[in-house]
Amino acid sequence: MKQTATILASCVIALAGAAQADEGAYAQEISFGEYGGVAEPLTDTPGDPERGAEIMVTKSEGNCISCHMVSALDFAPFHGEVGPPLDGVADRWDEAQLRGLLVDAKQTYPGTIMPAYFKTSGYVRPGQAFTKKPAEEPLPPLLSAQDIEDVVAFLSTLHWED
Ligand code: HEC
Repeated sequence: MKQTATILASCVIALAGAAQADEGAYAQEISFGEYGGVAEPLTDTPGDPERGAEIMVTKSEGNCISCHMVSALDFAPFHGEVGPPLDGVADRWDEAQLRGLLVDAKQTYPGTIMPAYFKTSGYVRPGQAFTKKPAEEPLPPLLSAQDIEDVVAFLSTLHWED
């Protein structure tokens, strides 16, 4: 019984892995502008700002508010202060720059502790979770391409005045 569950679980993981592998290869092809922006949307489906907001407050997804205060997301508790507040961020950065910050914030801020949400290779010492084995690249990205577009769509609504 236990074995069946284990086998089933590995199948599910393998399936998820296959879907993510496509995005992993795709993420390796993204090119950044001089200041770390990514001009081309990652998908053909326009971003959904409501879904973006949900991703930002969900622990298992973006979990952005663990580091950033965002007034528009004040329905969710516990906003962190590790990163700058994101109020008015659409007045500071254009869409390409916001996308670049999400894909790999180090292209904008070298050495930042903000996670790269759509990066799958080029890590210094990647490991397989809970094992001591090295992980093989491309690694699955933290968010999907569509998640990135949804979050960019939400961030683009954060102007100082509406
Ligand atoms: C571990 C903490 C952490 C998490 C999680 C995090 N960030 Fe950040 N973020 C930072 C820090 C720190 C900076 C400032 C860059 C620097 O100086 O290192 C930053 C900068 C930014 C900026 C640029 C802000 C500005 O005014 O220049 C944006 C936009 C941003 N983050 C969006 C997000 C989004 C959206 C998420 C979730 C998908 C997220 N961040 C998750 C730490 C984090």
